[in-house]
Amino acid sequence: MNERGMLVRTERVGEVAVLTIDSPPVNATSHALRSALKKSIDEALLDPAVKAIVLIGAGRGFIAGADISEFDRPRAEPLIPHIIAAIEQGQKPVIAAIHGHALGGGLELSMGCHYRVATAEARLGQPEVKIGLIPGAGGTQRLPRLVGLKLALDMIVGGDPISAKTGLEHGLIDQIIAGDLLPGAIAFAERVMRDRMPLKRVRDLPPPSLPDPDFFTRARGDLLRRKSALTAPQRCIDAVEASLLPFDQGLKREAELFSGIVFGDQSRALRHIFFAERDASKTAAIPAGTPTREIAQVAVIGGGTMGSAIALCCADAGLPVTLIEADAAALDRAMATLRRYYDGAAKRGTAPAEIERRLARITGSTKLAEIGAPDLVIEAVIEDLALKQKIFAELDRAAKPGAILATNTSYLDIDALASVTGRPESVLGLHFFSPATIMRVMEVVRTKKSTGAALATGMAFGRKIRKIPVLVGACDGFVGNRLLTQRGREVERLLAEGVAIPAIDEAMVAFGFPMGPCAAGDLAGLDISYRARKQRGRNLPLADAIVDAGRLGQKTGAGYYRYEPGSRAPIPDREAQRIIDAARGSTAQSAVAPEEIVARVLAAMINEGARILEEGIAERASDIDVIWVYGYGFPAYRGGPMFYADQVGLAALRDRLAQSAERFGDPGLKPAPLLDRLAREGKGFREFVRTS
Ligand code: COA
Repeated sequence: MNERGMLVRTERVGEVAVLTIDSPPVNATSHALRSALKKSIDEALLDPAVKAIVLIGAGRGFIAGADISEFDRPRAEPLIPHIIAAIEQGQKPVIAAIHGHALGGGLELSMGCHYRVATAEARLGQPEVKIGLIPGAGGTQRLPRLVGLKLALDMIVGGDPISAKTGLEHGLIDQIIAGDLLPGAIAFAERVMRDRMPLKRVRDLPPPSLPDPDFFTRARGDLLRRKSALTAPQRCIDAVEASLLPFDQGLKREAELFSGIVFGDQSRALRHIFFAERDASKTAAIPAGTPTREIAQVAVIGGGTMGSAIALCCADAGLPVTLIEADAAALDRAMATLRRYYDGAAKRGTAPAEIERRLARITGSTKLAEIGAPDLVIEAVIEDLALKQKIFAELDRAAKPGAILATNTSYLDIDALASVTGRPESVLGLHFFSPATIMRVMEVVRTKKSTGAALATGMAFGRKIRKIPVLVGACDGFVGNRLLTQRGREVERLLAEGVAIPAIDEAMVAFGFPMGPCAAGDLAGLDISYRARKQRGRNLPLADAIVDAGRLGQKTGAGYYRYEPGSRAPIPDREAQRIIDAARGSTAQSAVAPEEIVARVLAAMINEGARILEEGIAERASDIDVIWVYGYGFPAYRGGPMFYADQVGLAALRDRLAQSAERFGDPGLKPAPLLDRLAREGKGFREFVRTS
């Protein structure tokens, strides 16, 4: 918005009216912006002195699409199609001048213009599918007419943007402007007027031609093979297929398909996650303007699975990193892990020169004194408090003043680590999720003494290595693993009742998890959680029995399942069931319905989430959702455990938990006071706001 509070500013340059869209941060087409734009276009079309119109975005880009926060409400006119109709009915050339992003409704609006020019760095896309939608302002009809069915379908079903260069090659962009965009766009408009170039209306182009008769059957088959539970990609295909119809019929079909999903649970959940992901970086614990320390160099202590993966995340993001291991053999193993990862990256298409550059950023050493001068040290050795304290004391001596010392511990007391250093204010937790190169979330754990500046630096580092950092409080398990512990306990209870291992996993997979809890345990290594339990004096007799039988998961070829050599496919195994039956002293089987399995497991997790909120370990419910969606594969289209709880209704959850607590005689299942209070007030977790 400019100084006069206007979302669209009109200026005249000769006979060209330049309409600048100015609605920070990303020019999303809110109702206010659509109204202002429609009015400005109508005025320019009526103004006899104006012979051509250029639409351009102020700030970072053209338009990032519809204002996603408005989808929960009925859509108020004018809509983008009304603006496009005005342009199409007008007799003056309208040129879209694109820089930064033209996404969603932004790209659709540009396709309603007669011409599109763009800077070379511009990105053009229809990302609606990522929030469970289809393009709803003609994109599914205009894009195929401009670029052909194949690219249009890829863009609309995949949701990823293309470059201006690709756009130019496929007819989406008419010209790439090399210098400043606005003068280039004005020059283009003047050429359109001078050369009397036609007013090209995309709606008048013929429908796209089918690359082959099986094109859509194959596209649907591909989707089916991916076994995606998402509705939007299917609707995207349906809508693009409708572009074979006459334009207005196709448009009508697109509108029907859009209305069919916009208020659906999947899109609501995905929209929730869109904002939750962004809200996670806003925290009262870090006042605005808190300075962050520049992270130019990192050291990682420990080159096991986690340590090496963290080093890889740093190297991939352009950060030089020193990896310290205890001895030469361990360092060799770590370096071999790194090379294996980059072999995989090469197979996935990363250029050899780029791989060399990344590898060159990692230096190995066996001496802590050789960490160099990192701004951040991340300790990732085994979970042993005494060992970690020894390392932290040494690090405090070796690291330069002000450097941040972080631990990747999953549950140890970080304050106890901070206390052995002379810089407790610069100590924090950076908890990565396994596999750390893939999982997008990172818990930034604050201790009693960590300063806002240290936390802000931890958050900035997370963003730099392309993670979603979420600030959490220090406690045993932080946020993610506390819910995981509850899931483990409920799984144990189900096993004890005689529910078969595959039945539990299948129920959770049917709910949308990429794998069930037992198969996930096998993948991670059952000994890891076993050791963590034992260190804390906890027992899960059935889970323990599997490990005590030497079955540690995939790495030993057997855990809850068995595995053929070289295969990761879990095979149900009678022996595992026999071990469990022996441990529980019964062979009686029990058939619990899949929905009941899911409801019980989730209720236990959600209850823990409520406790976490109440204790202030998480700042808001949506932070817990982000951690579980991006750290543990909770289906994004279900919005995360706390969003899901709100959908189910907190009163129903409270009653279920109260019944379970009584039935199993487990006070841990009693509804958390916060859950009970919100249920009584008829509220959801989304309404929970911390006041202290
Ligand atoms: N509607 C409402 N708000 C939006 C938005 C949209 N379409 N796109 C971005 N925003 C907001 C974000 O919530 C964020 O707000 P915040 O600063 O209060 O957290 C702000 O704009 C900046 O977005 P962010 O994603 O943090 O910036 P970025 O530079 O990393 O990425 C985009 C910019 C445009 C690539 C990215 O925001 C994006 O992909 N937006 C969604 C595009 C989309 O799906 N459009 C189709 C909608 S149907």
